[in-house]
Amino acid sequence: MNGVIKPITVSDILAKKRAGEKIVALTAYDATFARLLDQAGVDIILVGDSLGMVIQGLDTTLPVTLEETIYHTRCSAQAISRALLVADMPFMSYQASVEQAALNAGRCLKEGGAQAVKLEGGEEFAPTIHKLVAVGIPVMGHCGMQPQRVREYGGYLLQGADEVQAERIVRDAHAVASAGAFSLVLEKIPRALARRITNELRIPTIGIAAGPDCDGQILVSYDMLGLADQFKFRFVRRYIEGAELIRKAVKEYGEDIRAGKFPSDKEAF
Ligand code: KIV
Repeated sequence: MNGVIKPITVSDILAKKRAGEKIVALTAYDATFARLLDQAGVDIILVGDSLGMVIQGLDTTLPVTLEETIYHTRCSAQAISRALLVADMPFMSYQASVEQAALNAGRCLKEGGAQAVKLEGGEEFAPTIHKLVAVGIPVMGHCGMQPQRVREYGGYLLQGADEVQAERIVRDAHAVASAGAFSLVLEKIPRALARRITNELRIPTIGIAAGPDCDGQILVSYDMLGLADQFKFRFVRRYIEGAELIRKAVKEYGEDIRAGKFPSDKEAF
């Protein structure tokens, strides 16, 4: 029937891999952005803990709290009709125990309105993923460079460049998939490694800084729209220079006010 929008489910995301259809994912943190991305046909909207950087202006994602994640997920959920909404579990909201993870992931669904959660980690989180999936919480994994491990890495460094690291990431990816995750983000690993994991897994891989061979791609929307133009990353393609457009519009607004041109009589009551 025309005009009826069918929401994307976890099974649809799995089916896309089987059909060889690429998956389109972006981050959002509020209703306005979530609505625009949804209307533009994005398959997965992630309320990333990148909100620490792009919304809160921090250097890392580590201080982001579960309450903040739930708040931004709820803001985004209001506006989405089609995309699958995934809440990113923040640092120390799932690491302490399987029970803690289940309770907090449950809150992302109950209070945030998410359809799934994402969590960073490999083999060590297989029991956690297994538990969440067992109680009906779909999980997106996240292997390779894990921003919540920035203190361990000493920076947001490429992972998997040597054989030992690469084999570890392959093992992690298999463990996450075997535990029941419905998809897996691969971040900042060599293209060949992402291709190998993508070929070996039956669940879709969603790449960021992992080359073009993944089953889908994700970027932080503020990067891709050129809003966070203080950063320039090799793996980001800017589809508009959003920051420049906003500065220009705001400058014109200021000029109009100062010149007495805004508001006009037509814009008054
Ligand atoms: O926090 C985030 O936005 C993410 C994606 C970029 C994968 O984890």
